[in-house]
Amino acid sequence: MKKIKVGIIGMGVGSKHYDVIKKINYCSIVAICEFNKRKLNSKNIQTQNIFKTNNYKELLKKNIDLIIISSYDNFHSQQIIDCVKNGIHVFVEKPLCITKEEIYKIKKVLKKNPHIKFSSNFVLRTKKTFKHLKSIIDKQKFGKTYYFEGDYNFGRLEKITAGWRSKILSYSVMHGGGIHLIDLIMWINNKKIIKVFADGNNISTHNTRFKSKDLVVSILKFEDGSIAKVTANFGSITPHHHILNVYGTKGTYFHSHRNDLIYNSRNPKFKPRNIFFKKNYVNQGDVLKSFIKSLISKEKPLVSKKEALNSMIVSLAVEDSLKKKKWIKVNY
Ligand SMILES: NC(=O)c1ccc[n+]([C@@H]2O[C@H](COP(=O)([O-])OP(=O)(O)OC[C@H]3O[C@@H](n4cnc5c(N)ncnc54)[C@H](O)[C@@H]3O)[C@@H](O)[C@H]2O)c1
Repeated sequence: MKKIKVGIIGMGVGSKHYDVIKKINYCSIVAICEFNKRKLNSKNIQTQNIFKTNNYKELLKKNIDLIIISSYDNFHSQQIIDCVKNGIHVFVEKPLCITKEEIYKIKKVLKKNPHIKFSSNFVLRTKKTFKHLKSIIDKQKFGKTYYFEGDYNFGRLEKITAGWRSKILSYSVMHGGGIHLIDLIMWINNKKIIKVFADGNNISTHNTRFKSKDLVVSILKFEDGSIAKVTANFGSITPHHHILNVYGTKGTYFHSHRNDLIYNSRNPKFKPRNIFFKKNYVNQGDVLKSFIKSLISKEKPLVSKKEALNSMIVSLAVEDSLKKKKWIKVNY
């Protein structure tokens, strides 16, 4: 079988993608783009016969089948567009882009090139808790779900007060983190979000160089009347973790970093079921592996092109609501 030739842009989280690809025998990493010379010449990469550059445009000329984009957020949209125009499949880190204008351009180029496969790295879908939760909701064991509550508690404030995130004009904590919960809830509820409202503050980053909101709370209204509240809380004095609570007419699920609880009764004497999942963590490589498989088979990737685009569109609507201080209709 002909090997899939892969290029990677950005060797932060991109180095994890590198490790995943290296283990897939029908893939070969042929090129890497990285600004940082030390990372570009790291021992790990030196042992391979790999083209190295600090200019991603050089990758476009290298007869590559797939490019993994793990550069800074502000570079994603142009890199996506250039790859697609050059007939290259794309796996891109979230967020796909940072403005509405960029998402229009991405949608347009993907529409013009329907053979191009495209996905994004929504890793929370790989956690046992969330797979289990989706399966019980799909089986309607919670009856009709009417309220979702998702918190992305970053716990790494220094990543936005210093470093590249602090330099992006109007950095969005919803695009940077909350979008994982938007994707997760859209995936689990399997319904369309029709409108959103959001507010926020920047109390945690007061007097720092970070000038956007570090806390954003959004209300997302689904087509069937169900509602989600998604919070991107980058100032939390906590370890990095996520909370997801789901309320249905027949049951309630509480997930935090401490436990997973299921309630099936309103009776105060009822003891909730405490579920323990062994190795209940995010499997970083699984979304990428499923995408790679979809390139050589009829198998669907964990995150489809449409899903990747839709969560971005919702996150952009949240940003729009923050600015305009009103409900925003989500325009897919
Ligand atoms: N899916 C997830 O859970 C997840 C987790 C972490 C980061 N990310 C995303 O991955 C991206 C990178 O974040 P990170 O944490 O790896 O940052 P990082 O700072 O650790 O690494 C990014 C690397 O990319 C390089 N780089 C950036 N833009 C480049 C460009 N245009 N050309 C060449 N090299 C470039 C930088 O020099 C740096 O070495 C971001 O978009 C971030 O949102 C996603």
